Amino acid sequence: MQNILILGGGGREHALSWKIKQSSQCQSLFIAPGNAGTATCGTNLNIDVLDFDSIKKAVDEHNIDCIIVGPEAPLVEGIYDYFKDHKVKVLGPSKLASQLEGSKAFANDFMAEFGIPTAGYLSVTSDNIQEGIDYIDKQDSKIVLKADGLAAGKGVLIIDDKEEAKTSLKEMLEGKFGAASSTVVIEEFLDGIEFSVFVLTNGEEFQILPIAKDYKRIGEGDTGLNTGGMGAISPVPFVDDEMGQKVTNQIIKPTLEGLKKRNYEYYGFIFLGLIKVNNNPYVIEYNCRMGDPETEVVIPRIKNDLVALIKSVFDHNLSSFPIDKEDKSAATVMLVSGGYPEKYEKGKAITFSAPIDDAIVFHAGTKQDGDQLVTNGGRVIAVTSYGKDFKAAVANSVKNIGKISFEKMNYRKDIGFDL
Ligand code: AMP
Ligand code: GLY
Repeated sequence: MQNILILGGGGREHALSWKIKQSSQCQSLFIAPGNAGTATCGTNLNIDVLDFDSIKKAVDEHNIDCIIVGPEAPLVEGIYDYFKDHKVKVLGPSKLASQLEGSKAFANDFMAEFGIPTAGYLSVTSDNIQEGIDYIDKQDSKIVLKADGLAAGKGVLIIDDKEEAKTSLKEMLEGKFGAASSTVVIEEFLDGIEFSVFVLTNGEEFQILPIAKDYKRIGEGDTGLNTGGMGAISPVPFVDDEMGQKVTNQIIKPTLEGLKKRNYEYYGFIFLGLIKVNNNPYVIEYNCRMGDPETEVVIPRIKNDLVALIKSVFDHNLSSFPIDKEDKSAATVMLVSGGYPEKYEKGKAITFSAPIDDAIVFHAGTKQDGDQLVTNGGRVIAVTSYGKDFKAAVANSVKNIGKISFEKMNYRKDIGFDL
C-alpha cells in the first residue's frame, strides 16, 4: 500500500493524513478534497467525495492502492461496491453494511435480530401512524424520534411532552427532514452517559481502537444546539476493563457475527455510539466510519504504524496486530466560527501569535487564500494535546488556543466537565 487516497476534508481527515505521513510504508498520499492542513501532509485533489467517476480517474492516474473513506455519504452511496472489480482496496464497508448508519430502522432491526442491547423501538411510516401514536402514549419517560435516513446529525429529537412528540412525529413523516424522515424510528429514552468505541475490522477479525467521548452541544455544560462535535477526550475514565469486556462480548462480537450471517462485506471502521445505563452498555447508534472529533484524539493515541495496521485488515492478519496505545490521555478542543451551528461567515483570517509547540493543530474548515490561512467552515481547527489525564490535556489545548485567533472564534473550555 504505497499510494493512498483519503476521502474527506475535515479534522478527521487531517488526523488520518498526519498519522499516515509518519509511515515509511506510504510513498504518496492524496486527499480529496482535503483542507489547508491536509495539504501539509500530502497532495489535495479538488474532487467531491461523491463524484465516484472523478475519484476513479484519480485512482488510475496516481496508481492508488487504497482509498480510506472518511465521511459516511460516499459509503452509504456505495463507493465500496463501485470499486468492487477494481484493484484498489477501499477501507470502508459495502453499501448494504453501510445501512447500519444510513438507516436507523435497518440498524434497529439488525440489533433486534442479533440480540444486541439497544433501546426498545418502533419504526413508523405514513402507513402506521396510529401505532406510532399508541407507542408514544406507552412511554413513561422522554420520547426519542429519529429520522430514519442521514440528516447530518440533526435528525434526532428528544421530547418531554407526549402531545408535542405526536405533532413532531407527524411533521417528520410529512418531510421535516426531507426523504430522511419518511420513516421515523421512535425509541425508548435511555438515561446514562455516552461514549464512543471504534473497531477496525475485515468482517472476521477485529481490533478495538482507543475509546473516546465527544461533546456535541455548542454551549458549556452541554447546553444549546447540537453540533458536529466541540471536543473529545480519550481514554474515558468510566470505561473500565469490565465495561470493555461487556462491550466486546455483548456488542462487538454479535455485530460481527450478524454481518457474517447476512453476508455483508465490511473492511473498515465501525463506530459504536454507546451509552452506559446501570453499568451496562447499550447501542445508541452505529456509524460506518470514524468519528469527528473523536479521530483527533483516537489517532494520536495509536502508536502502531497506521498503514501497516490497515494493510493487515486486507491481508487478513489483523488479529496478530494488537493496538499499542499511548498511556497518556489526549483531548481535543474545536475552534468554531461565530454563529455555528447556525449561520456563520467564512473567509476570516486565522492568525498565530506564537508557534504551537506542545499541541497538534488539526485543520477542519480551513483553506489557504494566497499567503493567508482563512476559515472555510463551521468547525475550523481542532487543537489536540496530551496530558497525564484528560484535565491536563484540555488545559494544555486551552493554553495553546490562546495563541490562535480569528474574528468571532468560539470554543468550549469545559471538555470532560461531566467526568
Ligand atoms: P444519534 O444520531 O442516534 O446518535 O442520536 C443523537 C443523540 O441523541 C445521541 O448522541 C444521544 O445523545 C441522543 N439519543 C439518541 N437515541 C437516544 C435514546 N434512545 N435515548 C437517549 N438518548 C438518545
Ligand atoms: N462525533 C460524532 C460523529 O462523528 O458522528
